[in-house]
Amino acid sequence: MPEQDLKAADRYSLGTRQESEIFHLKGANHLGWGMQNRLSNIFDPDTGHAVMLAFDHGYFQGPTSGLERVDLSIVPIARYADTLMLTRGILRSVIPPTYTGGLVLRATGGSSILKELSDEQIAISIDDAVRLNAAALAVQVFIGGEYESQSVHNLTRIIDMGNRHGIATLAVTAVGRDLARDARYMRLATRICAELGATFVKTYYTDDDFETVTSSCPVPIVIAGGKKLPEADALTLAYRAIQEGAAGVDMGRNIFQSDSPAAMIQAVRMVVHEGASAKEALEYYRSLLEDSPRD
Ligand code: 5RP
Repeated sequence: MPEQDLKAADRYSLGTRQESEIFHLKGANHLGWGMQNRLSNIFDPDTGHAVMLAFDHGYFQGPTSGLERVDLSIVPIARYADTLMLTRGILRSVIPPTYTGGLVLRATGGSSILKELSDEQIAISIDDAVRLNAAALAVQVFIGGEYESQSVHNLTRIIDMGNRHGIATLAVTAVGRDLARDARYMRLATRICAELGATFVKTYYTDDDFETVTSSCPVPIVIAGGKKLPEADALTLAYRAIQEGAAGVDMGRNIFQSDSPAAMIQAVRMVVHEGASAKEALEYYRSLLEDSPRD
């Protein structure tokens, strides 16, 4: 029997309404508690933005430059990311379970750079995603690609699986070699993914009219970094994307192939979370290099 509580409960705050906060992500207000909580592990509730560190490239191209030893290149900088985007193989074999940031798990695969890339299947069960505490599952979607319909079907099946368990779905718009990476294509691809139920969408930044891509997509967009650029250009890309409505960056090579991955990811954070200009972030990057020339 618990001890009797002698103090009468009297703090009812009558007349003060219980507030319901507006969720910090576009298009996510009517999602369930579990999914909103997982999304808050990806997108910082204070800024509504995310720095995702993508290093899942090995799932179709093997040991990519900078990812030969994920234990040495990624684990030391993981703490600077809000979220890791990776395969379950690397998660289990290399990432310490003490990592507490968000996890976005690659959920499709099956083709390699030696063959037609769009020929993918679902490559994880929802049980394993739950077991690994995934916040979201990432599905490659090839709009206009040879296996377009199959990849869209992968997306809708993962969305259904994820919705049953409160796990979000990230649709990754993959642009085939013959397709133009322009705003018209990105509007088409991102909108199709959102209409079919993706919780958020990853796409490429377009030099022209990127705002029309973010504006016409009813759920958050994060941008891929793409091929390695000089640090100044990569920070400019991140800055423009955020200013033009992206909710975050899901950057890989421009971080882990940088001369200083630790300095670069911290500079990217400054742009994404603090609204710093590319120039300010580059100065910060350089100052970190001076403080610690080797990382
Ligand atoms: C592979 C991916 C990668 O995660 C993505 O391309 C991000 O990495 P990068 O910034 O190197 O482009 O989605 O399909």
